[in-house]
Amino acid sequence: MFRSTQHQRSPDIERRRLTSALTVAAAAAFTGARWMPSGLAPSVAAQGAPALKELAPPGWLIGVAINQNQSDARDSIAVDLITRQFNSISPENLLKFESVQRQAGVFTFDAQDRYVAFGRDRGMAVIGHTLVWHSQTPAWVWAGGDGVPADRATLLERMRTHITTLVGRYKARIRGWDVVNEALNDDGTLRDSPWRRGIGDDYIAKAFEFAREADPGAELYYNDYNLATRPDKRAGAIRIVKDLQQRGLRIDAVGEQGHWRLNSPSPADIDRTITELRATGVKVMITELDVNLLPPAGPRGEPPPPGSNPYANGLPDDVQQTLARYYADAFRVFLKHRDDITRVTFWGVSDGDSWLNRGRVNHPLLWDRQRQPKPAFGEVVRVLASPPARRAGN
Ligand code: G3I
Repeated sequence: MFRSTQHQRSPDIERRRLTSALTVAAAAAFTGARWMPSGLAPSVAAQGAPALKELAPPGWLIGVAINQNQSDARDSIAVDLITRQFNSISPENLLKFESVQRQAGVFTFDAQDRYVAFGRDRGMAVIGHTLVWHSQTPAWVWAGGDGVPADRATLLERMRTHITTLVGRYKARIRGWDVVNEALNDDGTLRDSPWRRGIGDDYIAKAFEFAREADPGAELYYNDYNLATRPDKRAGAIRIVKDLQQRGLRIDAVGEQGHWRLNSPSPADIDRTITELRATGVKVMITELDVNLLPPAGPRGEPPPPGSNPYANGLPDDVQQTLARYYADAFRVFLKHRDDITRVTFWGVSDGDSWLNRGRVNHPLLWDRQRQPKPAFGEVVRVLASPPARRAGN
């Protein structure tokens, strides 16, 4: 049951899609294979580009994760891009446990309120990320007295208080929540998270129960990575969905984060993943899309191995084109499943904003460091503007 993401295609949407398609054709004719003439100021370039949100099929959201500089409107060029291109936002860090309740019982809602207002003011679907996760959660949450871990009752109480306060504050304003994030190991077993150690395997069900109580109208999601690359992990996610359903708890969608690489997952992997997740009855979302172009970084704390930062001076044209083709292939699969998918969210606005840099120079997104659209943007626009046939059975 999806709140207002399912709608008929209105004459207005048809008009916008047609206008966008014409813009695409005009832009293509003007720039050749590239999207924007170089030398334009980024905000001017952004204004001339077709908008992803207008090209997306009815019922889809095209989202982006934003940081605090963006939700506080300090990064005005990014704000322009976000406003023009996207109709959904996710908070890159602001709604995580450590950002909201760093100390027990002390809730922070300043920048968080501004994040929600940023999206609501622009008519966007505002996403909540994330309620229950083993990471970016302060140590006090799991601590009992005298250095022993907190017991089940204490942890359940802390979980309920956090969820009730946070979800309750944004009731009917946040469209949907990543209720539980990354609960699985790559082999599909449940991760040895402190939540699970203290509460037991039903910590996932409890989180969904508390979130449903706090906002009965919100969409609730399970979110994880490697679901497209690891079939065993995908099977684990499917077990989580079925377990919730058997308990009579509603889950609306599974998010495959989509932190991908050029060699994996393949279009066939993505196709299979969407089909298998959708077979449980829930919708599918790609929640944190980016494509890592760098080799492994080497062990933390040690100097990066030679050659581990190959694109520090820019992305060679052949890699740029390979990235564009990868995005095009992925979007073709998404569109084949257009009735199964409700949202595709990019994890960051432009290459300079991405978490994937971490001391190196990565190029994982659709806009470059100058906030200029890359060939990958052009390819995504082209695919969205002329969608392939739906998969059989839809
Ligand atoms: O806020 C502190 C700042 O005070 C400090 O000076 C600075 C020094 O390192 O660190 C800042 O915190 C950083 C935080 O991002 C905010 O920028 C953390 O070090 C850094 O670890 C943290 O990284 C975030 C990461 O989650 C943490 O797990 C990334 O921005 C964020 O993109 C990433 O997002 C996750 C999703 O939530 C879940 N899926 C995977 C995805 C990528 O890792």
